[in-house]
Amino acid sequence: MPIVFILNGPNLNLLGVRDPSIYGRDTLGDIEERCTGRAAALGLEIDFRQTNHEGQLVDWIQEARESADGIVLNAGALTHTSVALLDALSAAELPVVEVHLSNIFRRENFRHHSYVSLAANGVICGLGAHGYELALEAIASLIEGESDEAAL
Ligand code: DQA
Repeated sequence: MPIVFILNGPNLNLLGVRDPSIYGRDTLGDIEERCTGRAAALGLEIDFRQTNHEGQLVDWIQEARESADGIVLNAGALTHTSVALLDALSAAELPVVEVHLSNIFRRENFRHHSYVSLAANGVICGLGAHGYELALEAIASLIEGESDEAAL
């Protein structure tokens, strides 16, 4: 079964209590549960993680390069600042779907730019926790497309 790393960055451990009017009431545990169900239906295995540390995310993306088939990433605020994450994602050479719970384009200007997007196949934002499930659907078809290409 293809393996997808679902990586979550700073402050996402506070979901459920942090600005629920922006991020909703689901906790990260709730989101993981939804992803587990969705992944099973799509025939994917997931590895769901969260860290508050940029270097840890870089390490996990490098690990994905070796042992995963795709990455779903909500890098939190690092989305808007981290060239290191962009470089790690580019080096990973894997399908990448960027997710944000909130619609970053309806928020402050500094959230409108994403370094992650420069290395992502697609971006899903503004759809809350459901966005993670949509990201898994997208990554499933990207992975399938790649294996179809490899078979040609
Ligand atoms: C976020 C959007 C970011 O701008 C913010 O810093 C976050 C969460 C989202 O999921 O909407 O921490 O990535």
